[in-house]
Amino acid sequence: MNIRQILNDKVKQAMIATGIPAECDPHVAPSKKAGFGDYQANGAMGAAKAMKTNPRELAQSIVDNLDLDGIAEKLEIAGPGFINIHLSPAWLSQETATLLDGERLGIDNVETAQTAVVDYSSPNLAKEMHVGHLRSSIIGDALVRILEFQGHKVIRQNHVGDWGTQFGMLIAELEDQMQDGEAAEFALKDLETFYQQSKKHFDEDEAFATKAREYVVKLQSGDERINKLWEQFKRISLRHSEEIYEQLNVTLKDSDVRGESFYNDDLPKVVSDLQEQGLAVEDQGAQVVFLEELADKEGNPSPVIIQKQGGGYLYATSDLAALRYRGSKLNADRVLYFIDARQSLHMKQVFTLAKKAGFVNDAISLEHHAFGTMMGEDGKPFKTRSGGTVKLAELLEEAVERAAALIAAKDPDLDEVERVEVARKVGIGAVKYADLSKTRTNDYIFSWESMLSFEGNTAPYLQYAYTRIQSIFRKAGIAGTDVKAAINIEAEQEKALALKLLQFEEILEQVAREAYPHILCTYLYDLASLYMKFYEACPILKDGIEEATRNSRLGLCQAVARTLDTGLNLLGIETMEKM
Ligand code: ARG
Repeated sequence: MNIRQILNDKVKQAMIATGIPAECDPHVAPSKKAGFGDYQANGAMGAAKAMKTNPRELAQSIVDNLDLDGIAEKLEIAGPGFINIHLSPAWLSQETATLLDGERLGIDNVETAQTAVVDYSSPNLAKEMHVGHLRSSIIGDALVRILEFQGHKVIRQNHVGDWGTQFGMLIAELEDQMQDGEAAEFALKDLETFYQQSKKHFDEDEAFATKAREYVVKLQSGDERINKLWEQFKRISLRHSEEIYEQLNVTLKDSDVRGESFYNDDLPKVVSDLQEQGLAVEDQGAQVVFLEELADKEGNPSPVIIQKQGGGYLYATSDLAALRYRGSKLNADRVLYFIDARQSLHMKQVFTLAKKAGFVNDAISLEHHAFGTMMGEDGKPFKTRSGGTVKLAELLEEAVERAAALIAAKDPDLDEVERVEVARKVGIGAVKYADLSKTRTNDYIFSWESMLSFEGNTAPYLQYAYTRIQSIFRKAGIAGTDVKAAINIEAEQEKALALKLLQFEEILEQVAREAYPHILCTYLYDLASLYMKFYEACPILKDGIEEATRNSRLGLCQAVARTLDTGLNLLGIETMEKM
């Protein structure tokens, strides 16, 4: 159900019937202010400008040709030529009822499914995941879920950092510790400490450093023993990440891992292809591409190093190889990257160069969806008290603990098992929602207090709204799924709620296109707030309420509950029946 699309098509037909050129856009959107109808078509102004006529008169001709019988109850022209559309309550009633048919809230799969390759999370395996990996993992996962729900083919790519000179040092350290009789699992149980030990060793022990450098060469030349140690290291490090994904309810699986090392064999080819095309040139012993397209204000082209002086390859080289693979082997229509804003220049360079060199076709959409930094309440990047990086695992543990304390105080009636479950969903949900609900491109301040509040635009508020509806169903003695009533929109609160419900598909489309999950969060919050108003104004189970009205209202409750549940799930946040 996409009201905007329906109205857009109808207005377009009317515009064409009026003699307006077909390329003119009807510009239909929900009205921003009360009193201007439910939707507005603002295309008359643009069309009048193109045709050099009076916009108000043109708007009148469009309205004369506009057939919204059964959909709108009133059309009016406002200001210079806005067309205000007031939808008919009968139509809204009928459409809202269809939301309850089937499992998908009336949302069909998209007509033309695309293949979307989504690069997200992608931690470096040398270290443990820290808070810096939270945003990429959860924003990327929300997009993946939404695109899949719409019927697109989604290929997840966890582009982990599993290659580079530091692995020589890590392997040498692992070998040493295993010679001391430690199992690899034990040596690597705390990656952070392990990394520090090996770094210290490397800096202080010349023989160790020499061995570490040797191991880099051996690793690259395929030495069996060294590669085995490397595989072992990767496997254990990945298992750490997978535990976090599990805890975070992020859908990444082992099979989605395609790390930097996967592209090793293609790197010489990337360089030689760029050389053959005359794009890569030697500069101080390195291979460099100078991109005029990204020149600075003084006109200096932007340099991209693709091979170092000693022959080593760089981050950009494997990203170029990855793009070629994603375009030609994975047949991507879109490639979406969820990476920190600090890598914006890097991504721009890689995209520009990949297109210029013909590594991907022109039609492919390459998108870097950048995000800002998570800040502490002091307004500085989020750190531990002693100034270290915050491990993600510890942050999530704390979230669940804090939620458990809240739940224990709020819901003494829940039994032990329920309490543990609810605390987990609320704690993890709060952390995720606090992040997803902020405009992605901004920095945001991490605050336990506001994210765990049961009021305002938070996960606990939405989860609670959902449980309140479930408790109405319990009181009514029905399971929510049993509600199959005719919907009858009468009160203004019912109309506002129905209209919101019917906009879910539009919102998902927008989020899928622009990759801003906060738009979905705002929508769910608005929906829950409209529901509360409806609940205040329109009694459901009170004595004396007619059965048809009661059932219609239960139907509305059901549509809200399902939309909240589906919306939260698309954000990777779980709901519960009770709290
Ligand atoms: N491993 C990188 C990091 O931790 C992120 C990789 C993002 N993906 C990519 N294709 N460059 O900074």
